[in-house]
Amino acid sequence: MNKLALYCRIGFEKELAAEITDKASERGVFGFARVEPNSGYVIFECYQAGEADRLAQELPFDQLIFARQMIVVSDLLQDLSPEDRISPILSQYRQSELAKKLKNSTELFVETADTNEAKELSGFCRKFTVPLRNALKKDGFLQGKDSHKSAVTLHVFFLQSTACYVGYSYNHNHSPYFMGIQRLKFPADAPSRSTLKLEEAILTFIPKQKESQYLNENQYAVDLGACPGGWTYQLVKRGLFVYAVDHGKMAASLHETGRIEHCAEDGFKFQPPKRRRIDWLVCDMVEQPSRIAQLIAKWLINGWCHASIFNLKLPMKKRYAEVKECLAMIEQALDKQGLKYKLKAKHLYHDREEITVYLYLLP
Ligand SMILES: C[S@@+](CC[C@H](N)C(=O)[O-])C[C@H]1O[C@@H](n2cnc3c(N)ncnc32)[C@H](O)[C@@H]1O
Repeated sequence: MNKLALYCRIGFEKELAAEITDKASERGVFGFARVEPNSGYVIFECYQAGEADRLAQELPFDQLIFARQMIVVSDLLQDLSPEDRISPILSQYRQSELAKKLKNSTELFVETADTNEAKELSGFCRKFTVPLRNALKKDGFLQGKDSHKSAVTLHVFFLQSTACYVGYSYNHNHSPYFMGIQRLKFPADAPSRSTLKLEEAILTFIPKQKESQYLNENQYAVDLGACPGGWTYQLVKRGLFVYAVDHGKMAASLHETGRIEHCAEDGFKFQPPKRRRIDWLVCDMVEQPSRIAQLIAKWLINGWCHASIFNLKLPMKKRYAEVKECLAMIEQALDKQGLKYKLKAKHLYHDREEITVYLYLLP
């Protein structure tokens, strides 16, 4: 097992391939990324033995922007017999030089890529999970405890019902969700589906146990490009008072909360009201990513806010290069001021042609 399988949104395989090649080489790991357009995954073959496992442990998963999941996998198992798919999969796990470690697994995911064609297999995957899980347990796998520092999750990644990759991810460095997708329920009273983007961002970037410390009723936020109010809804729900900046119309239900002020202004010119300390700046304006990056950096440097979640809408071409440039620009601007911060970016499940960025100034 010396390859990584990385899942992504359909259409972003090239960006993910460029990113994993880049970030692996920064760690001195070299390999070859195999891309099939619109497949929803990338296979990164490492040149030296043991390096896929090293990356899976050491390349921080939360630093990968376009990857939904990162798994160490075997060669592709092909021509699986419908009579017995279990034996070849079991023997991959048994023969692995890491078999002892893999016994310390806590969970089994039988997955496909997130494409319409691949999803036709999802019924099969569901049904196959139970007998495979039983067979693995009988063989001593799936006996681990999540608290163990090298606990793993087993993944079997089906491309067709007769072909799959067999692998694992480290629980301390992966997405804990099936297919790397955090599914959220659309709140019936939210003004737009965009609300799920900010909800997923909050759940992804802010530690659950600290959420009320990071977002609470003593805080003020500015929402640039707020209408009709899906993002504002998430902030108001957590008790914040929100200045909603947009020439459009905000949902009446948000006005009724008494926790918003609608400012029909240009988001690029808006400044925080006098004597009002703003905690959070959120921004979902459809604009060139470099303009948004500059705007957010300006707010933080001016001390107008200390935290931000914003989207960078991606152009059709050179999307990874554009993302790198925007993030580097923000870093350079903040470093120049001697500011300390956390900066994370992710292509979230609810994002489409955009990524979400989290920026938090440290005291
Ligand atoms: C994708 S929508 C935002 C959706 C919103 N986040 C929600 O959850 O309902 C983009 C919004 O940005 C606004 N917008 C675009 N350029 C703007 C600007 N320069 N100043 C203020 N708002 C702007 C548009 O009017 C539009 O309502």
